[in-house]
Amino acid sequence: MKLEPTGAVLGATVRDVDLAAPLTDAQFAGVLSALGRYGVLRFPDQKLEAVALRDFSRRFGRIQATLSGRHHEPGLAEVGVLSNIIENGEPIGITDAGQDWHTDMSYNETIGFLNVLYAVRVPRRDGIVLGDTQFVNTQAAYEDLSPELKTRLRTMTATHDFNKFWENMRRRPGSLRDPLTPEQRRKRPPSVHPVFLTHPITGRTVLYCNPGYAIRINELDEAESDRVLETLFTHQLQAKYQYTHRWTEGDVLVWDHLGTLHYAVPDYGPDEPRLMKRCQVMADRIFDPEFVRAALSAAQAS
Ligand code: SIN
Repeated sequence: MKLEPTGAVLGATVRDVDLAAPLTDAQFAGVLSALGRYGVLRFPDQKLEAVALRDFSRRFGRIQATLSGRHHEPGLAEVGVLSNIIENGEPIGITDAGQDWHTDMSYNETIGFLNVLYAVRVPRRDGIVLGDTQFVNTQAAYEDLSPELKTRLRTMTATHDFNKFWENMRRRPGSLRDPLTPEQRRKRPPSVHPVFLTHPITGRTVLYCNPGYAIRINELDEAESDRVLETLFTHQLQAKYQYTHRWTEGDVLVWDHLGTLHYAVPDYGPDEPRLMKRCQVMADRIFDPEFVRAALSAAQAS
């Protein structure tokens, strides 16, 4: 396995790994530690069936099933389909997934650890690739916060609500989203997490408060919470913390939700097809120090 860092604030390319085959313990350890270090890993030239994508992803934790019950691979609710392609008058996938800055699954009690996205079709116009995914390094963003803000927010928590992002998307012209049903809201209730988290792989502090889902700092009154949230959102979205991934068909991109925010850039039209397959891996294992220790020690042993 060969690692080539991008040299930017996030990102590395991982070569000489076939994700269609199970990772060895040493490869798994290498991927896990690279995720902590680089946040976003690109595995180019992959050819993956949906089952193989699921099996690779599952090694890192439980996979969240898609909410709609429709936009996933046949018989595999763990492998979501994100696409603007229409077949027989129906979109084959979620058409507007991730089109604002956010961190997947921060609204869950068990938060998200990874996204695994496999690029099947990438839109192009006049030879230029469209539909990039942009990222923010939340570790670097935390480090640059003022000492006053770090101290003030050290023990504070934020509420994250799935409905915030959903409604933001719904307000956009042409949105195909209906309001969440009471049943869907029950499946995705808001949840509360510390504003700062200790990253389970690196031990470093990250700013865990994303514009897509965070609605309130619980220990502050509403007006002050709004002010502080705005400060945090503006701070972390500065260009110096951002990294852009430009897709090629066959890329598998794996990113660490704890150390990043992301945004799927919607700069392509209905006739410029984009098709991604996605597994959303939860942080149900990564906060277990024994899991991390055992996984990483395989790298030292090899
Ligand atoms: C997502 O937010 O999970 C989707 C990102 C993308 O399609 O680029």
